[in-house]
Amino acid sequence: MRLSAILMNTSAKIEYYSRFSPSPLSIKQFLEFGRDNACEKTSYMFLRKELPVRLANTMREVNLLPDKLLSQPSVRLVQKWYMQSFLELLEYENRSPDDPHALNDFLEVLIEIRNRHNDVVPTMAQGVIEYKEKFGFDPFSTSNIQYFLDRFYTNRISFRMLINQHTLLFGNDTNPAHPKHIGSIDPACNVADVVNDAYEMAKMLCEQYYPTAPALNIKEFNAKAPEKPIQAVYVPSHLFHMLFELFKNAMRATVEHHGENKELPLVKAKVTLGKEDLSVKISDRGGGVPLRKIDRLFNYTYSTAPTPSLNSKRVPLAGFGHGLPISRLYARYFQGDLQLYSMEGVGTDAVIYLKALSSESFERLPVFNKSAWRHYQGGPGADDWSNPSKEPRDASKYKAKR
Ligand SMILES: Nc1ncnc2c1ncn2[C@@H]1O[C@H](COP(=O)(O)OP(=O)(O)OP(=O)(O)O)[C@@H](O)[C@H]1O
Ligand SMILES: [Mg+2]
Repeated sequence: MRLSAILMNTSAKIEYYSRFSPSPLSIKQFLEFGRDNACEKTSYMFLRKELPVRLANTMREVNLLPDKLLSQPSVRLVQKWYMQSFLELLEYENRSPDDPHALNDFLEVLIEIRNRHNDVVPTMAQGVIEYKEKFGFDPFSTSNIQYFLDRFYTNRISFRMLINQHTLLFGNDTNPAHPKHIGSIDPACNVADVVNDAYEMAKMLCEQYYPTAPALNIKEFNAKAPEKPIQAVYVPSHLFHMLFELFKNAMRATVEHHGENKELPLVKAKVTLGKEDLSVKISDRGGGVPLRKIDRLFNYTYSTAPTPSLNSKRVPLAGFGHGLPISRLYARYFQGDLQLYSMEGVGTDAVIYLKALSSESFERLPVFNKSAWRHYQGGPGADDWSNPSKEPRDASKYKAKR
């Protein structure tokens, strides 16, 4: 086939698959599927359609970004990865699960795809930085890019979740350290243990940058079954990711606010379980953030730390501005949330909310449709709230004229 014909065929396929909405799964469904003699053929049949559907939905949305952003080399590279993975998956469109090599080849392709997409986040971030440096940011494109990245990265989290479940259940990369895990899910994840692990990891990093790190105090309140440790049916790597980011932030704020050589106030963690919510609060005394700035902290390019070099071998403690927004996506992905409550001058509480029940933890997935499309169209609307005027009106002038 000629190249132009292949390209036309591919864009028709993207169009075709993007017309399907992704099918969200709950943690309970992931678990039940993995537990009851998981069937590789069933998983194959599901994924060979669901993965192209999720890819196509996000690929259509990428095309709505401003042309100048799309033409940045890093963004083009990311698009190339998506196209290649999409084409590789299409190879299985009509391949029977009874073909003796199909299942094994599919498994290998999934691993290749996962590896190819490892650096999507830093590469995309690089593209956004390049764009910002060349063209600056107006409030409209900032909000569009924020909207896009939230959806694009959520799609990526979900895509990796599906791939990991399949490769962990049916491949050779099962983790012998966690025989009880069902794929990447721990059916009895001890939350305080993950809090501890994430703290230790962040502490190690913090001590590479400063000569010190604040200590940790953990408390548990199990309102459902007092005295029992709080367990979640969850993906421990997601929980770890969120907690690690919150601890890095809390530690940096604490050390910067109090000074390296002073005695540091504790960072406190509180793990709670109610009927509906399982929550983890990380509280620091790192001086806090004014209310005016809180929303901004969730912007992908907002950081008060110097931008770390991408080539540096050293893992940075802060600086990409991705820690909070991506952690919030992980929390929201299974219907939870992440919120910050700060009191300027004192400190910050960051709370992760998870669903207590795995049957309620459904994937929250972006869908490419008319209303998403509309979001990218039109110009920035006029502000529909009053702005404080710079020069207060002098009422005496008007009175004098009366
Ligand atoms: N607990 C906190 N106390 C005070 N300021 C905070 C706290 N958490 C976050 N911030 C502020 O929010 C900004 C954004 O945080 P975020 O974690 O998203 O990015 P970062 O820490 O700068 O970089 P990285 O992507 O490496 O995490 C930080 O630079 C910091 O100014
Ligand atoms: Mg951070």
